[in-house]
Amino acid sequence: MKKINFSAEATIYDNLSELNAKDKHLIEQAIIAREKAYAPYSKFKVGAALLLENGTIVSGNNQENAAYPSGMCAERVAIWKASSEFPNVKVLKLALTGASEEIEVNNPVPPCGACRQVLYEYEFNQDEPIEILFMGEVGKIIKTKSVASLLPFSFNSTYL
Ligand code: THU
Repeated sequence: MKKINFSAEATIYDNLSELNAKDKHLIEQAIIAREKAYAPYSKFKVGAALLLENGTIVSGNNQENAAYPSGMCAERVAIWKASSEFPNVKVLKLALTGASEEIEVNNPVPPCGACRQVLYEYEFNQDEPIEILFMGEVGKIIKTKSVASLLPFSFNSTYL
């Protein structure tokens, strides 16, 4: 028997002005996407922006539905949009931001578990990490080095 530990590195920035120009631009694109989200039920709008290896930025936002489980998160809208428009083009970074119409979201909004799994599929296939940057509406920004670092014991196609 042995015990193992997982650890993941994250960088925490106090505000947008601490980010490098590329990351700041990507977060700004996520904010623009967030403002266009369709979230009439939760009133919680999420925007995601992906930077592809070819320089293209693909954004997406959450799309809710009166049949609640039929809605979709911003990250999956964005990654599927990217994969459908630019198949096999590597994804370098994903920026994510969430804001509520009811409260001020001042903590970084991380990708949900289902989105981590979906993002991991593409990271695994491209064999290069996807950086994840996430923030709330205001406040700190967290940057992690990969999807895998957010998903220990991850499931992928090699198990099938
Ligand atoms: N949501 C996202 O878009 N991404 C996440 O990672 C977490 C949650 C959306 C889904 C739903 O429309 C709203 O936020 C509230 O859960």
